Amino acid sequence: MSKEIPFLRLDIDSPQLEEDILKILRSGRLTRGPYTQQFEEEFKNFLGVSFFRTVNSGTTALYVALRAIDVKDKYVVVPALSFKATIDAVILAGGKPLVLDVDETYTLDINQLEDALKNYDVKVILPVHLFGNMADMPVINELAQKYGAYVLEDAAQAHGASLEGIKAGAWGDIAAFSFYATKNISMGEGGGVAVSNPKLAEKVKTITDFGNRPAFNFRISEFQAAVGLSSLRRIEENNRRRREIAKKYNERLGKYFVPQKERGYHVYHVYSLRHPQRDLIIKKLQEKKIGTKIYYDYLLHEIRAVEHFPTPKAEKYKKELFALPIYPSLTEQEVDFIIESLLEILELIQG
Ligand SMILES: Cc1ncc(COP(=O)(O)O)c(C=O)c1O
Repeated sequence: MSKEIPFLRLDIDSPQLEEDILKILRSGRLTRGPYTQQFEEEFKNFLGVSFFRTVNSGTTALYVALRAIDVKDKYVVVPALSFKATIDAVILAGGKPLVLDVDETYTLDINQLEDALKNYDVKVILPVHLFGNMADMPVINELAQKYGAYVLEDAAQAHGASLEGIKAGAWGDIAAFSFYATKNISMGEGGGVAVSNPKLAEKVKTITDFGNRPAFNFRISEFQAAVGLSSLRRIEENNRRRREIAKKYNERLGKYFVPQKERGYHVYHVYSLRHPQRDLIIKKLQEKKIGTKIYYDYLLHEIRAVEHFPTPKAEKYKKELFALPIYPSLTEQEVDFIIESLLEILELIQG
């Protein structure tokens, strides 16, 4: 295959969407209109939660959720392996992050969680469904109840993921989504707060609306909502395709590399593998014009000076993880070429 396989290819292919964008332009209603309302209604029903509000990014969604709970000077438990927005939102909301290790699913290590809850006055547990894989929500919810903590899910990468029939974003008291350009549901930029605890819904409304106190404007435009709706209406089919590709990668590469251990219905926002010779493998893949990426080359307590538990697993994973292309328009031939290239590279470096 002489053609390049990019790490990411965005699949915006909708005559309906083009029509919608024109309709918005002609209507003159560019914000707070029917598309935003429709997106909020459909996404709320998709998740099965009682309230959902769009905001302008996933970082904002986390911030709004933390402000709604009110974490000022309170401990918020976060996993070591995530995008930096997870910890930055806690800091911006005035909370004190407490970083724990992750397990082989790359989500919050529940063995450390009880220790943390016993020894710290934790107000919020903030699990991240990393790469589209569910955190251990039954145990997290049980521990949260036992120790009187809130649960805020970072579901930025997990649109449509589920565990025991309950979707990511519907397990906790509240959840944050991102609709950034590369996400499984995209608006270009965007985010949203899903609420299951009725006490928090009013707070989220107050924080996201101009009231009689100083407030930020967190709104999205009608254009973003239209892009989001088009993406939402294809999510089940697109997630199925992502899972199909992941299954093939797992079956053919799982003996030689360590794939992420799945929990529940994983939606593969990112397909990751581990190998001790990661950097060399990435270099060889680049020579074959196959795009890869490292998620993440940092741990949250390494980039922000905060309290943390020992994180031996996250430290090891950080050095070994790399991600392969995975998106609905990736063809079978491209998937086969990636797999064969990786097997060839492995033979070369081990030979
Ligand atoms: C796990 C996680 N949390 C939060 C965010 C922040 O979302 P955004 O980029 O929309 O602000 C992202 C994505 O970028 C993410 O991957």
